[in-house]
Amino acid sequence: MRIDIITVLPQLLESPFQHSILKRAIDKGLVEVNLINLRDYSTQKQKSVDDYAFGGGAGMVMGIEPIANCITALKAERTYDEVIYTSPDGELLNQKISNQLSTLKNIIILCGHYKGVDQRVRDHFITKEISIGDYVLSGGELAAAVISDSIIRLIPGAMSDETSALTDSFQDNLLAPPVYTRPADYKGLKVPEILLSGHTANIENWRHEQSLLRTMERRPDLLK
Ligand code: ADE
Repeated sequence: MRIDIITVLPQLLESPFQHSILKRAIDKGLVEVNLINLRDYSTQKQKSVDDYAFGGGAGMVMGIEPIANCITALKAERTYDEVIYTSPDGELLNQKISNQLSTLKNIIILCGHYKGVDQRVRDHFITKEISIGDYVLSGGELAAAVISDSIIRLIPGAMSDETSALTDSFQDNLLAPPVYTRPADYKGLKVPEILLSGHTANIENWRHEQSLLRTMERRPDLLK
């Protein structure tokens, strides 16, 4: 898989891909992540990529020219399955969307900034708009990192234990059950007896029950 992230702040996005599962997936060649500096596609003297909004109002708008230049140049090299734009008014990210995106070959993620991008970009270049939650971030970079992380960890081979992506919260629309590790007794705080029993089937039943309980308590909306 290839993820091309178009941003005005490429440095902000370096670190998330240099650690843990994401780094390993990149090192193994399972995914290629390219950070593309939008300013490189600006034809303005100051390499600016934004301008005042027509009609007035506070805040700058990212212009169509550098974005169109950048996406057109990328598309000349390969076909993209999705061109994603990060925005608080996009579709709310969930596990189902991440699962779908993880099966794709080439995607672009355009990070929004300022007051957003010229609507013509959204109308003519973007195929999917994603929000990572009902709150406003300073820019789309952290959203792009969240989207990429949620996708990359699902690529077969990205996780050391392949089954662990399947037991994540949300994979079956249930939250994950509680987990414990040693010591079995910490100053009287004990691990549930059943987990020490060695009885795999009973443990699986208990975990499923705990998942259900936790989902009913915390996220009943997932059960409908
Ligand atoms: N850009 C600013 N806020 C955002 C959000 N909540 N999701 C995605 N992109 C954003």
